[in-house]
Amino acid sequence: MSFHPDQIRSQYPALQNGVAWLDGAAGTQVPTSVIEAIAGAYRHGIGNTGGAFPASHYSEQIQWGAREAVADLVGGVAEGVFFAQSATTITYHISRTLAQGWVAGDEVIVSRLDHDSNVRPWIHAAESAGATVRWAEIDLETGDLPADQYKELVNGRTKVIAVTAASNVLGTKPDISRIAEIAHSAGALIYVDGVHATPHFPIDIDAMSADFYVTSAYKWQGPHIAALAADPKLLQSLTPRKLASSTPDSPNKYELGTPPFADLAGVSAAVDHMAGLVAGTGTRRERITTSMTAVAAYQKALAGHMLDSLRAMPKVHVFGKLKDKTPTAYFTVAGYEPLQVAQKLSEGGVNVWNGHNYAWEVTAALGIRDKGSAVRAGLSLYNNEDDVERLLKIVSAL
Ligand SMILES: Cc1ncc(COP(=O)(O)O)c(C=O)c1O
Repeated sequence: MSFHPDQIRSQYPALQNGVAWLDGAAGTQVPTSVIEAIAGAYRHGIGNTGGAFPASHYSEQIQWGAREAVADLVGGVAEGVFFAQSATTITYHISRTLAQGWVAGDEVIVSRLDHDSNVRPWIHAAESAGATVRWAEIDLETGDLPADQYKELVNGRTKVIAVTAASNVLGTKPDISRIAEIAHSAGALIYVDGVHATPHFPIDIDAMSADFYVTSAYKWQGPHIAALAADPKLLQSLTPRKLASSTPDSPNKYELGTPPFADLAGVSAAVDHMAGLVAGTGTRRERITTSMTAVAAYQKALAGHMLDSLRAMPKVHVFGKLKDKTPTAYFTVAGYEPLQVAQKLSEGGVNVWNGHNYAWEVTAALGIRDKGSAVRAGLSLYNNEDDVERLLKIVSAL
């Protein structure tokens, strides 16, 4: 079953302005179904949960519906899913929660490849417990994060390995199941940042053996909210800081204060949208897998063309060499600051990002962070050949 973005582009109001939106790695546009789901929840009337009246029950339905949707998206179960404002908020929450059980001399492993969102919270948690931080390093030439280095990094004191399922700039996809195997052999947990990976591939947290998997809906055509998926028993066993008056039951005990119920309706609509990208049958989980397999195949071909064309331009340097990666190009153009390249592209109706994109350690390791870092162009599921050709035409003329 093949996928082409032109089948769905008309469903995205924001795309109708004619701009090539190649900025989706920082946040995607949303289809009408997501906008309507959010507006529809407000139109219906929502109440806070735990009340004795229908609008309160309606919010509970929305909340559990969104948990089921995220579980279907990543291969988890609804009882193991909770939401918060952002992936960063969730990672701080879980790292602080886990650190309550750490003592001086315990260890955590972070990676140089990760978005700072999956680095700094662990460093701060380690500081609070007197734990040691160890680093997994990138192969700067290829952009790879070799999995076997974790064999040397783990030991009996390792509590957590925090690692990304895909780099938000280089697009590298570390071998998570291998890293998880090494973590578990040492009795450690693995916390996986799935924010950049989830929009591009079918995700199966069981196959990855991820203990925690965090993802942000605004990267996959949903509202600005994030979710964590984990084994419900693991979540129940931990004691996040929370109000005395709030429920001790998981996953609700992780959601501090009142959730944005209307946005949660948007989360379910975004997942339904992803499940319906190509004609498919079976459960929503099966349809998501069919759809995202087709999206990945389309994006691989188009990103391959984008990357090969950029690499062939004499003035352009593309970071990373791997073929099996997300459809993301991170590049510089000789004679231009990354900001100038982004401005030229914007003048030509192409949205891209410039700068470190919070890949704080990656850009420092590459030696570019103090020089404006680089330009990032990434494909979202609504980007087509025309978007890429416009990018290539402007960059080649620089
Ligand atoms: C790979 C990755 N991890 C984490 C984040 C942070 O996500 P949030 O904005 O939901 O905190 C981002 C955001 O760009 C990201 O790309």
